[in-house]
Amino acid sequence: MSAPTSSTPVPAAAPATSGHRRILVTSALPYANGQIHIGHMVEYIQTDIWVRSLRMHGHEVYYVGADDTHGTPIMLRAEQEGITPKQLIERVGKEHKRDFDSFGISFDNYYSTDAEENRVLCESIYGSLKAAGLIEARDIEQAYDPVKEMFLPDRFIKGECPKCGAKDQYGDNCEVCGSTYQPLDLINPYSVVSGATPVRKTSTHYFFRLSDPRCEDFLRGWVSGLAQPEATNKMREWLGDKGDAKLADWDISRDSPYFGFEIPGAPGKYFYVWVDAPVGYYASFKNLADARGLDFEEWIRPGSKTEQYHFIGKDILYFHTLFWPAMLEFSGHRTPTNVFAHGFLTVDGAKMSKSRGTFITAKSVIDTGINPEWLRYYYAAKLNHTMEDIDLNLEDFQARVNSDLVGKYVNIASRAAGFLIKRFEGRVQDSAMNHPLLLQLRAAIAQIAALYESREYGRALRTTMDLADTVNAFVDTAKPWDQAKDETNAAALHETCSVSLEAFRLLSLALKPVLPLLAESVEGFLGIAPLVWADVSAPLSSSQPINAYKHLMTRVDPKQIEALVAANRESVAPGQTAAPAAAASASTSKKAAKAKEPEAEGVISIDDFAKIDLRIAKIVNCTAVEGSDKLLQLTLDVGEEKTRNVFSGIKSAYQPQDLIGKFTVMVANLAPRKMKFGLSEGMVLAASSEDEKAEPGLYILEPHSGAKPGMRVK
Ligand code: MSP
Ligand code: ZN
Repeated sequence: MSAPTSSTPVPAAAPATSGHRRILVTSALPYANGQIHIGHMVEYIQTDIWVRSLRMHGHEVYYVGADDTHGTPIMLRAEQEGITPKQLIERVGKEHKRDFDSFGISFDNYYSTDAEENRVLCESIYGSLKAAGLIEARDIEQAYDPVKEMFLPDRFIKGECPKCGAKDQYGDNCEVCGSTYQPLDLINPYSVVSGATPVRKTSTHYFFRLSDPRCEDFLRGWVSGLAQPEATNKMREWLGDKGDAKLADWDISRDSPYFGFEIPGAPGKYFYVWVDAPVGYYASFKNLADARGLDFEEWIRPGSKTEQYHFIGKDILYFHTLFWPAMLEFSGHRTPTNVFAHGFLTVDGAKMSKSRGTFITAKSVIDTGINPEWLRYYYAAKLNHTMEDIDLNLEDFQARVNSDLVGKYVNIASRAAGFLIKRFEGRVQDSAMNHPLLLQLRAAIAQIAALYESREYGRALRTTMDLADTVNAFVDTAKPWDQAKDETNAAALHETCSVSLEAFRLLSLALKPVLPLLAESVEGFLGIAPLVWADVSAPLSSSQPINAYKHLMTRVDPKQIEALVAANRESVAPGQTAAPAAAASASTSKKAAKAKEPEAEGVISIDDFAKIDLRIAKIVNCTAVEGSDKLLQLTLDVGEEKTRNVFSGIKSAYQPQDLIGKFTVMVANLAPRKMKFGLSEGMVLAASSEDEKAEPGLYILEPHSGAKPGMRVK
């Protein structure tokens, strides 16, 4: 391969839309040890809309993906299930493909990082980096599980924080005081795999020398061309000031046992999963190129005229804007044209949660009969070019889909089609095709297409819905239902219906990247070829009658949303509904419970009890709430990805600092409650005497020692 240079052009802003472009697009490769959920779908939907819009320009676009199959968690997961890693990734790969298909994600190829093409590419890239003097072997000391006989990744070691003493902290950083450290700095560390106390063990590792001045120079130039200024700024922070590069060398090897590719010439050493994962983009594309007879080398060589874009979440930015471009650059490949990062999904203002039923899998969306295009529309309406998080508000979702898609858009076709078919043999009036309203719509289409390209989907859809409003206003003014009453108005009625339907065609064109299936139904109904952007100036014609109108889209039924949340709520049987929202203090909820129970019986079934998801929570932080003499604000670790925020009326009984580090019990599936001071995401349990003011008044529950955050209480 050619000698690496550091003069590769920095990524350019997206080239102009004109001319034939050859474009490779990727989404991040999902890990093969879990199901696809609606958080993932933000990314795949965002990418798919972009890809579809580019294809509608007639460009040569390839969209590839794959499962990210290697690494310790997948190896251990397979072991837990009593199957081989290959069996696990094969099964999960099929599930992922099924989910992507059901959401209309139009991959040209969906592959696996555990493929021969990937091994060959990884070995070749590694070989070139080594030849360039950028690989170095170094002995390092690491945590080793003497029972399981394996080195432990940071996340598989827990213990007490060396700075603040907080219990049950991961091996890389403390969630309580925020300090970062080495796993073996933990006090009383234990292996999450076996429970054994890890020991220190030395082993040879291979490093990619990112601290080399060549890498630093190259990356400094490269990040300045990123499309998102926030990304450039973040990466500049990582790079540090010129001359005092902060970038550490990157440990790219792992010891056996590891599920991955063995490093050539280093028996028992494997490429770290984050080495072969991005190379998996190329492996998937190589697999496609071979099948389609494309010149793969032409796409990956330095100076290639083709374009290459990666869509990713903000959490994996530095892998894509530092490690991956450096790997490519110094192994004699082209570098990405750009990397586009998006934010994270929250549901109803909080992180997705299994106990609340908002950790929603893609499959459950399909299984509950929710139209995936509703979700495509809703996400698109919220997406822009930034890394801001986006929120799926379940109520707003129903309202928005029903009012925009059904009320404003589909409505236009259903109003016009009947008259056109009954009175005019389904043929439009050709002279109506130059109506000023249509000229206005046509002029807006190019602008909408450009908004898609700049990833301003929200603005594209707002523009489209504004146009739909204009069309509906036109129909309301023309009143076709009145025009139809009088034969002498036939020409006027014909014009109204023709303009409405052509407007509907144009709106369908504008929505097509987001709603590809709906667009297909519309194309069938109008009897036209698949819509592309150039069709803006190919109006409906009297020579091609439309077909009978069939219902194009139904409304969201609130029951479907209830079913969706119920289906995803863990440890609660499907079909049951959430416990009612209650105040965040034990005493008030006790009153509420009293009021709800039939006084005479006072007995509940085991099913009633099972509805309440009680969990061990660790109070990782506690502060007084300014402006409240009752509430304390608790930060609780319940064994989830993120902590919970809970307001609790226990200020009379506790000093905030006395609670930090304590364990308690919380109701984890209480509907989140908006309070004056913020969102309360659950409730902690406390005992109280009838008269709270009496001393002593209030006691929070505390489990025996040994209980871990997230354990179910039943
Ligand atoms: N396997 C790595 C990516 C390797 S790419 C060479 C990975 N996998 S992942 O399954 O954890 O995530 C896949 C993508 O989904 C990432 O871009 C990630 O940011 C995105 N998302 C995962 N959860 C998400 C949300 N809750 N919200 C939005 N995007 C999310 O990272
Ligand atoms: Zn700490």
